[in-house]
Amino acid sequence: MDKKRNFAHGFVLRWKYNQLDMSILSSKHILLGVTGSIAAYKAADLASKLAQAGAQVDVILTGAGEKFVSPLTFQSVTGRRAYTDKDLWGDEAHILHISFGKTADLLVIAPCTADTMAKLAHGIADNLLTVTALAATCPILIAPAMDGGMFDHSATQQNLSTLLSRGALVAGPASGHLASGLSGKGRMIEPMEVLGHIRLALGKKGKLAGKKIIVTAGGTQEAIDPVRVITNRSSGKQGYALAQAALDAGAEVLLVTTPTALTPPVGAKVVDVKSVQEMLDVLISESADALVMAAAAADFRPTQVAREKMKKRDGIPQIELEAAPDVLGTLSTLGGKKRRFKVTAGFAAESQSLLENAEEKLKSKGLDFIAANDISASDAGFGTDTNRITLLFADGSKETLSLMSKTEAAEKIIEHIARLLE
Ligand code: CTP
Repeated sequence: MDKKRNFAHGFVLRWKYNQLDMSILSSKHILLGVTGSIAAYKAADLASKLAQAGAQVDVILTGAGEKFVSPLTFQSVTGRRAYTDKDLWGDEAHILHISFGKTADLLVIAPCTADTMAKLAHGIADNLLTVTALAATCPILIAPAMDGGMFDHSATQQNLSTLLSRGALVAGPASGHLASGLSGKGRMIEPMEVLGHIRLALGKKGKLAGKKIIVTAGGTQEAIDPVRVITNRSSGKQGYALAQAALDAGAEVLLVTTPTALTPPVGAKVVDVKSVQEMLDVLISESADALVMAAAAADFRPTQVAREKMKKRDGIPQIELEAAPDVLGTLSTLGGKKRRFKVTAGFAAESQSLLENAEEKLKSKGLDFIAANDISASDAGFGTDTNRITLLFADGSKETLSLMSKTEAAEKIIEHIARLLE
């Protein structure tokens, strides 16, 4: 690839990572119901994000929903006609609600008012959205939005229980500022979070359904004193992308993470750790179908951690280091490793002799496969949005992945985990 094309390719990959690089949504048919809440403005953002991620988004507004945001807004972001109650009485009426309910992969109602929740719970079908919901064979996900007290009201709570008992998925509501000026539980959750719930719903029957995957992420922090640590440049992006890819494939995910600037994917159970020792302690007490060690774990740590903050006036400290435990190495020497993790994968961050060093780690750490990562390249490794990875397998086979976003790399790695678990 010449320099110019390489730059453009890198740009597209960066855009994809930062924006909505989520293959789980591409070519999915999402029906988005929008009801009468001020949070309807957030639905426009949600519709836009879904469309950018490649989903076919058909929006149905209730009469009250239309009062907050016009169909044109949704048409502009989805590139498709938005439907309203006028369509309920048009020529296509029955075709619309029956076909939508049958062809969609998911019906999302966001925001969903207390009124629409009540209608859904009681099978009332008096507008295009509720008629469609009653005819739908696909799963339904609702994101409640209402004012103070309405969510807690026993009528709403009973409706909620009814919907949950029928298998409806409910995301939110969140607590905080409400349109009335009150504060309480009732805010619709943010569009990115709704998107996370949509991914969870779509992934439910994926290749890893029923499997548990543990992913470690981020750079460990080894304390010098109460305020200083030894850490590394790992951003955690590859680990978080792996956790999301495993969730997209339907897995139960435990994300063991060091402090990062990233938001954990919706649906992951998160355990926060700082040091290598804490990470090792968590992993020793867990079992799973697969472990992916994407964390950049320290190799060295201070022999002693000062109890008090080291003071400048005491001069420049000499910090003695000792070997930190090798997490994968320790796990592979512990009896019953194969029983606790059927598949174990690691990463090799190398600045020279990439494949030779990775091969050695694959063997010495008892891995099923290792992702060899050339950290000397500017578009791969720590902090970047892209990676250049070669996968080396215990059976001697090898797969070289081209430059791709960390999201895509994560999906490839998760595909191999699913294959090895078959
Ligand atoms: N790893 C680990 N425990 C450590 C250090 C690393 O389990 N204390 C894991 C990493 O999470 C990764 C793999 O081992 O999956 C390889 O890590 P890497 O840093 O590339 O290699 P090291 O074993 O630390 O060797 P070196 O730093 O000398 O290359």
